[in-house]
Amino acid sequence: MALLTLSDIRVRYGSVEVLHGINLRVEEGEIVALLGANGAGKSTTLLSVSGLVRPCAGEILFEGRNLLRLPSHEVVRLGIAQSPEGRRVFGAMSVLENLRLGAFCIRDTARSERTLEWIFDLFPRLLERREQLAGTLSGGEQQMLAIGRALMAEPRLLLLDEPSLGLAPLLVRSIFETVRTINERGVTVLLVEQNARAALKLATRGYVLEVGNVVMEDRAASLLADANVREAYLGG
Ligand SMILES: Nc1ncnc2c1ncn2[C@@H]1O[C@H](COP(=O)(O)OP(=O)(O)OP(=O)(O)O)[C@@H](O)[C@H]1O
Ligand SMILES: [Mg+2]
Repeated sequence: MALLTLSDIRVRYGSVEVLHGINLRVEEGEIVALLGANGAGKSTTLLSVSGLVRPCAGEILFEGRNLLRLPSHEVVRLGIAQSPEGRRVFGAMSVLENLRLGAFCIRDTARSERTLEWIFDLFPRLLERREQLAGTLSGGEQQMLAIGRALMAEPRLLLLDEPSLGLAPLLVRSIFETVRTINERGVTVLLVEQNARAALKLATRGYVLEVGNVVMEDRAASLLADANVREAYLGG
């Protein structure tokens, strides 16, 4: 059984349907890339999994449990955490406060402290700036914080929405390397990215979304080599 399975997921915003029956699966241990142009429905797909958007049809199974009626905090408790598009850190709170908020569902405070140490190992910048207000961080540091905050929930599945958006090239590479490290520590990853080439180099498999439909699904290496994908998403 896959860790996560989306079957025929449909989402409407008002009267407009934006996901037209998404089928997607993520196996335990994988990094799965979700690619597509602006407005294709990538974020909406992730928000459906995390319970922040309610599909009007379909099924989302996480370890065989249907998530469709669960409030988002219950989804976090089950082991799914999201680093949202645009980071959305709490600017008026410190780095440390933001991170601790991410652990709202963890009762074992000693374990949370170990997770915090791990996050500071992953992102030494966050350790240096732990007392600083999140709103004063650079874009790259806020991205680290958003990922760190999600990891504080000790997820088995991490949903990453455009972690490299707006970052300088050197930082982009470092964020992708960190995603690999996180995955090697046993966290399964569903990764939304505009940076398709880097995402496919990291991923095991990938999906391509076009206007609310999955139009391709394959091993990441096959997508990287595919002429249509190269033309549309990899700059030829
Ligand atoms: N809250 C909303 N209300 C109405 N329409 C929305 C809302 N959020 C997204 N949409 C529309 O739904 C469609 C899918 O949007 P979504 O944000 O999921 O795409 P995306 O692939 O993440 O795009 P991007 O690459 O720009 O982040 C788009 O047409 C978008 O305009
Ligand atoms: Mg998006």
